[in-house]
Amino acid sequence: MPFEPPRAEDQARRLLAVALPRRWAHVLAVASKARVIGQELGEDGELLEATAWLHDVGYSPDLASTGFHPLDGARYLREVVAPKRVVDLVAFHSAAWAEAQEFGVAGELAEFEDERTLTRDLLWYCDMTTGPDGTDLDFEDRMAEVRERYGPHHYVTRALDAGMDERRAAVRRSREWLMSVGLADQV
Ligand SMILES: [Fe+2]
Repeated sequence: MPFEPPRAEDQARRLLAVALPRRWAHVLAVASKARVIGQELGEDGELLEATAWLHDVGYSPDLASTGFHPLDGARYLREVVAPKRVVDLVAFHSAAWAEAQEFGVAGELAEFEDERTLTRDLLWYCDMTTGPDGTDLDFEDRMAEVRERYGPHHYVTRALDAGMDERRAAVRRSREWLMSVGLADQV
């Protein structure tokens, strides 16, 4: 796979570590969860970790264009010829479609595909149980944190409710799987 985890890590570090150190701390924590999970995930293990490294590159000031980070990240990754699944997973991570509707870029996001697999659920899980500075957070606490950080009128907050059922379902499926492989207490 041309985007194996070490290369994804380098690329994400280059785009985020200096420009956005707090975001980078979040990415480090998300990727470390993804690595632990990836070891039990079989053939998608490396894909999950590589995607975790790259999921927030769209925040980088070097490549932000629409200002909607899942879309900017996915378009950048498509341009640098990342594997299609990496690109699609980044585009739709953590119920991005709901935010895209609020942000007015749902049509653009439709350039990509939500694969709706366990790997996708687990990426969402790693992201949605990690705070903006890399702290471990329970899913419901993380949602409350987002609401508080953006304020009641921000599109992210409005989108939170629109995407909530799907987020909760992804977290529930992830937890069930994590329990089944004995990882529930580790990530
Ligand atoms: Fe994230």
